[in-house]
Amino acid sequence: MKIRKAVIPAAGLGTRMLPITKSMPKEMLPIVNKPVIHYVVEEAIRAGIDDILIITGKGKRAIEDYFDRSFELEYYLRERGKVNELRQVEEIGEMVDIYYVRQKKPLGLGDAILYAEKHVNEEPFAVLLGDDLIVSEKPGIQQLIEVAQCYSSPVIGVEKVPRELVDRYGVISGTELDRELYEVHNLVEKPSPQEAPNNIAIVGRYVLTPEIFDILKEIPPGKGGEVQLTDALRELAKRRKILAKLISGKRYDIGTFEGWLRANIELSKNGGGLR
Ligand code: UTP
Repeated sequence: MKIRKAVIPAAGLGTRMLPITKSMPKEMLPIVNKPVIHYVVEEAIRAGIDDILIITGKGKRAIEDYFDRSFELEYYLRERGKVNELRQVEEIGEMVDIYYVRQKKPLGLGDAILYAEKHVNEEPFAVLLGDDLIVSEKPGIQQLIEVAQCYSSPVIGVEKVPRELVDRYGVISGTELDRELYEVHNLVEKPSPQEAPNNIAIVGRYVLTPEIFDILKEIPPGKGGEVQLTDALRELAKRRKILAKLISGKRYDIGTFEGWLRANIELSKNGGGLR
């Protein structure tokens, strides 16, 4: 199973981060000196991905502008001999092939993934959410890609979280196949701590196969009236083997102010985001 393509859904409204997200995409919030989505794109590139599709929506133009070349800015920097700044700006414009498609309405993560169907064109693909920033020696998504290639199965990235926080996540249950690897039998989206089968929570990294699209088209809206990827994966688990892999590394939940601030403090301390 060769995985070359990645999908980054970035069309959510980011209501937990209001009011800043009223006029600014959540994915463009800075972590030290780069927007969150820059780190996510870098993670995909480090894992060998050479084709990225970003699902955008209303008010997300800043993401396209960020990854585009900026000839005016480059001219200005060149004229003034600002060589380091020029190199930095040019490099962003040349990182990787990035394509965009707009989700018409923010109907949920599952609906956003459906917009990738034409682009992935029958190939398995990686999914990375900007809500989770993973700092690790081996890129988080690469850890999943290796498992997907070894078992020829879709793989979900998971992490053990404190039980009282399970209601922020999708939670899986299954049998442990190996250290840090599970065969998934069931998935529940945002269960209460009482109803959660355990504390193994889905984080924003997946390797999926194209059969997910037909399921996404069939399933009704779930929690919050949104088409939930977790619901589609539960259905997929009934039809074929799917795996979950505990991702090693430090994860920051950028979908909340607390996680975003912590990422900024910790990455600025060790110079992680800076050049
Ligand atoms: P979230 O559940 O975090 O939703 O989406 P959100 O709208 O971004 O944030 P809150 O919960 O309102 O604060 C998880 C991922 O799915 C994408 C988001 O951009 C995020 O990367 N998403 C969500 C879409 O692309 N489209 C949607 O309709 C919903």
